[in-house]
Amino acid sequence: VYLDHAATSWPKPTQVIDAVVSGMTDLGGNPGRSAHELAMDSARAVHAARCDVARLLGAPDPRDIAIVSGCTEGCNLVLKGFLGPGDRVVVSSLEHNSIARPLNALSVAGVEVIVVEADATGAVDPAAVAAAVASGPTRAVVCMHASNVAGTIQPIADLTRVAHDAGAAMIVDGAQGAGHVAVDVVALGVDAYVCSGHKALLGPEGVGVVYLAPGFAPREASQGGTGDGGINGDVHPTTRPQRYEAGTRNVPGILGLGAAARLLAEQGDATRAEEARLVRRLHEGLEYAGYTVLGPPADVPRVPIVSVTHPRLDADRLANALDERYGIATRAGLHCAPWAHRTLGSGATGALRLSLGWGSRDCDVDAALDALAELAR
Ligand SMILES: Cc1ncc(COP(=O)(O)O)c(C=O)c1O
Repeated sequence: VYLDHAATSWPKPTQVIDAVVSGMTDLGGNPGRSAHELAMDSARAVHAARCDVARLLGAPDPRDIAIVSGCTEGCNLVLKGFLGPGDRVVVSSLEHNSIARPLNALSVAGVEVIVVEADATGAVDPAAVAAAVASGPTRAVVCMHASNVAGTIQPIADLTRVAHDAGAAMIVDGAQGAGHVAVDVVALGVDAYVCSGHKALLGPEGVGVVYLAPGFAPREASQGGTGDGGINGDVHPTTRPQRYEAGTRNVPGILGLGAAARLLAEQGDATRAEEARLVRRLHEGLEYAGYTVLGPPADVPRVPIVSVTHPRLDADRLANALDERYGIATRAGLHCAPWAHRTLGSGATGALRLSLGWGSRDCDVDAALDALAELAR
């Protein structure tokens, strides 16, 4: 029973696996480099996958989609490429280390980081963010789309309005958003939306997506080979997506991500409806069994993540018992998000996280509820 989809989704859909294998067998060469047929086919396949990802996220121009190694690399690219000494950034207290740690490094380099506390259910209040941006000239507001601990979905369109009214850019960590939430980057109005390819987007590990709105152009993280450059070869290109894709890409991974994007375009709505139904059952069942659920109440929509504490039982021991005695995969601890656990009141203990995803079934929820009820008896 796999309830660790928030770490990475598993199993991957057959279409994704087939596309990865095809990327290593039917295709070859290095897209954008050589001009032989194999490399040209590879380039066409990568372009098609980029278009599929752009369509899924509502990005009108696929050149605004850069494919990187994961959400961590993408967040580093955007934050370090956009912020510099003397800038001020407003960020929520729920952020993952993929945001918290680059911002910590930037604060050492002279960026002022203002943390806005989310409430005890993990909700970020746009009014609190508005007050923070009003208290000083702010270059960017940074917030996750959905919490990897509490499952809370943040009001990104409202936060974007707050940021833009103050002349700040809106940067979103969508690692737990895209896939679990239908994303339209234009409707949200964001300047940057960064996501993992391998979580709810259902792609393989080793790919992530950075959407950069037209006109929002952080510095590139690396310079190097892009397959073009012409006569002025020493200067890294400013064209998209080449600017943000120095070096050979993970072609099989990108093809897998493209296949996943096509699958989600067809099945995303049905998958999200099923996830919403299952996560509510899981939430209510855990409360009934005596566990305290972090985050919003059961009737508030959330991504399919439920983290719990128990007055007597330690989260790590619960995860071990679930694994060893019941064959149920979950994750305990701080989930790379100590800020979020502090906000939610579980900073000292951590929590047990159960996360559902594509392919989760009622019997998975039943197995977890039966096991956790037995362990709490
Ligand atoms: C909210 C959030 N941001 C960023 C990341 C990092 O993603 P990746 O593993 O793709 O680097 C995660 C992964 O757990 C996450 O949950």
